[in-house]
Amino acid sequence: MFSDSKPFCRETMGRIRRVGILTGGGDCPGLNAVIRAVTRAAILQYGFEVLGIQDGYLGLLLDKTRGLSGEDVAGILGLGGTILGTSNRTDPFSFSPPEEKNGPLRDYSDLLLRNVERLKLDALLCAGGDGTLTIADRLAGKGLPVIGIPKTIDNDLVGTDLTFGFDTAVSNASEAMDKIHSTAQSHHRIMVVETMGRYAGWLALMSGLASGGDVILIPEIPFDLSNIARAILKRTRLGHRFSIVVVAEGARIRGGALVVKKRIKDSPDPIRLGGIGNWLTEKIEQMTGIESRVSVLGHLQRGGSPTSFDRNLATRFGVEAIHLTARKRFGRMVSLKGQNITSIPLESIAGKTRIIPLDSPWLRSARDIGIHLEIYKWLFALLVGDLQYMVT
Ligand code: F6P
Repeated sequence: MFSDSKPFCRETMGRIRRVGILTGGGDCPGLNAVIRAVTRAAILQYGFEVLGIQDGYLGLLLDKTRGLSGEDVAGILGLGGTILGTSNRTDPFSFSPPEEKNGPLRDYSDLLLRNVERLKLDALLCAGGDGTLTIADRLAGKGLPVIGIPKTIDNDLVGTDLTFGFDTAVSNASEAMDKIHSTAQSHHRIMVVETMGRYAGWLALMSGLASGGDVILIPEIPFDLSNIARAILKRTRLGHRFSIVVVAEGARIRGGALVVKKRIKDSPDPIRLGGIGNWLTEKIEQMTGIESRVSVLGHLQRGGSPTSFDRNLATRFGVEAIHLTARKRFGRMVSLKGQNITSIPLESIAGKTRIIPLDSPWLRSARDIGIHLEIYKWLFALLVGDLQYMVT
């Protein structure tokens, strides 16, 4: 029986023989590349057995696992999603078993630790975003030998320069926006495109920049409707007969609240954002008198085959996770720093969100090519420490 007073201690019991891997949170391109890399490096370099946990932490609570061999992971490198399945509503510290149907949420973390022990896992590798990795950190606090692997299309994890899945999502969103461009141009309309990204604007900014957005609205910079209308009407005066407005799902009006689509009680992050695009489209049409339409890109952004960049990043992360396991460097998350793969303590990233800093060079580039961003020029000049910028 495991509890806070008697922490899990397999890691101290000798040689690593068996490792488990789970994928938690929203699915994301590159998860299969991680599963493949972990399995192959574990078997080929160290002779470990690999157990795949199905549906994230849920599989460890409900005992849903499958062995993974080199054959099992053959041919999955370019597949979207995750062959193990995932869940973004299972928190073992606040869980209600499915058979209880909306029963009270209780702490089942000790059950999870017992199951890990029973499955004879010497290490647990958790590929996930901040929800999954925060849980991994809490499990590490109870003595579980865990390693985190950062994934998310939102790119909002601290401690790593990039998460895998983000590059594919940017590419998916940009491709969609290219298509929206041609219809906007033909009808002389304003097209509002709502992207995912939760509380960080990375996905909106990078895809908007990559596909010629005219206005980009991100959670980090609340917006003022009249500024947006003015920017669009200025474009019209200059002869541009259409505009593309990219809005992150977490963007909000100055002094206003986030637009929430729904709340999911048993999820580590119960809030699901969405709806700002529809609201904004109506307001922009009223204020500019220009016919406007909205496209909510939704789950298209995180589906499909990963880009080669994401496949390679996920592969490097998976391999490093196995090396850390062999060295018993538990309680850490693999991370990208510059061109190098390294690792940092899970506790240093748990519960934190990496948003776009207002002095980001990406914002500056966007602004310098005339994209409307809702950031005042004088403020930007102060932030980037270049007062000359104010007068240019
Ligand atoms: O975190 C990834 C993400 O796709 C967010 O960008 C989005 O807000 C959320 O997940 C959507 O969650 P769900 O798949 O539960 O609708």
